[in-house]
Amino acid sequence: MKVDVREIEHRAADADLIAYGVYAEEPVPAEVAAASGAAAAAGTYKRLSPAFDGERQLVLVGLGEREQLDPERLRVLAALVAKEAGRIEAGSLAWRLPESGDDGAAAEAIVAGTILGSHRYDRFKREPEEPPARLESVTLLAPESVAGAAETARVYAEAQNRARDLQSTPANFARPEDLAARAEEIAAGSAALSATVLGRAELEEKGMGGLLAVSQGGPVEPRLIVLRYAGGGSGPTLGLVGKGVTFDTGGISLKPGAGMEEMKMDMSGAAAVLEAVAAIAELGLEIDLLAVIPSTENMPSGTAIKPGDVITQYDGTTVEVNNTDAEGRLILADALAYAVELGAERIVDLATLTGAVTFALGSTYAALIANDDELAAAVGAAGERSGELTWRLPLHPEFKALMKGKVADLSNLSSQRRKAGTITAASFLEEFVGETPWAHVDIAGTASDVGREYTGKDASGFGVRLLVELARELSGSAAAR
Ligand code: BES
Ligand code: MN
Ligand code: ZN
Repeated sequence: MKVDVREIEHRAADADLIAYGVYAEEPVPAEVAAASGAAAAAGTYKRLSPAFDGERQLVLVGLGEREQLDPERLRVLAALVAKEAGRIEAGSLAWRLPESGDDGAAAEAIVAGTILGSHRYDRFKREPEEPPARLESVTLLAPESVAGAAETARVYAEAQNRARDLQSTPANFARPEDLAARAEEIAAGSAALSATVLGRAELEEKGMGGLLAVSQGGPVEPRLIVLRYAGGGSGPTLGLVGKGVTFDTGGISLKPGAGMEEMKMDMSGAAAVLEAVAAIAELGLEIDLLAVIPSTENMPSGTAIKPGDVITQYDGTTVEVNNTDAEGRLILADALAYAVELGAERIVDLATLTGAVTFALGSTYAALIANDDELAAAVGAAGERSGELTWRLPLHPEFKALMKGKVADLSNLSSQRRKAGTITAASFLEEFVGETPWAHVDIAGTASDVGREYTGKDASGFGVRLLVELARELSGSAAAR
């Protein structure tokens, strides 16, 4: 989407649709009121009819109470306006920036809400003979000073839409090699980026026993993807690890059939990490990143790993695989240990790791579990600012004790399966990061089905905004905020 900022009045805006926000209980300007015949109610909006003038239409956007307007509400309203633009087939939109305490944050929210709210995944739909006009540009009617914020939001919102496309891509098109190809394509976009991809032979040579074990049930080749960004940061290198299971059948511990198609999205962590790195590089944030993505299918077959099998992880830890559906932790264990070895000085991982997180936090919060309060606070704050909310859950030696193996060092299944499934999974991961500050974000509940106006009900791209926001906070560049 084309995004620009123009310091002009709405009357002068040359756009198919004009969005004009009004606070509750505050007067609607006479010429706008005359055209609408009604004031907008809080949180709702109303299209003016007849048209504002000959060509252009105007939506009156109810902003609600002035004190309660925050970026989240603006993202929602902007997405509603984007839907309206789609309905009337407007190609261009002008949004009058409402007065608020923070013009930059408001500009970001409007741009992000517009772009996210316009997203559709139609790759496999037959092109209609007369395709409807689509929204192609949004102009903020605002002071020039918000141009940087608008551009930042354009970059991360488009990255988030690309992550959603990757999530939605069926598993016969989004295989580990396809994620690797995307990493290489991202790396080709900037001299500060580089990608390295390990295939089965190299994984065997290195002893990545977790990733190999999960992949051995099917013919599709696993990949371990490393994407680096040398952004000239002065702080510690941030490791980003994303679960890249391109399809999770459960393996021999097979999942029920109903809804299994959703498991094409078991690479949502990988998608968010890849596209967040692309966005951070495009924004030129001064930070050094090391992204590690283990990617494989999890299939049942005569060659598949079986319950009770013992494997050796990359760091030498032995693990009894008591449930082949707890595969995410096996591949992440190798990736976390590898990230530490490659020089990650603090690590954030994103993974659709447990169904249990949906019971605890729904699709409203991702679970945040960390061995370091400072990093946890930074991730939590980035979530608040971006609207990708997290809620911290605790670690405790008693949870770790549940992950001890009978015949091996660890089991991948808690000995009390019904207890704290999200935390026991994280406790397993913690074994592989040593002393490195680490924060785990379980996105199994938030990767899809969020149902906010700007995310829709399908793939949400959860994590892209959060990671970009975290990088802005941790980076040295003053221009970042
Ligand atoms: N990919 C799933 C988790 C998941 C469930 C993601 C639902 C999205 C929606 C993960 O690999 C898994 O199967 N976890 C098991 C772990 C259990 C066997 C300990 C689970 O949550 O049931
Ligand atoms: Mn699984
Ligand atoms: Zn899984």
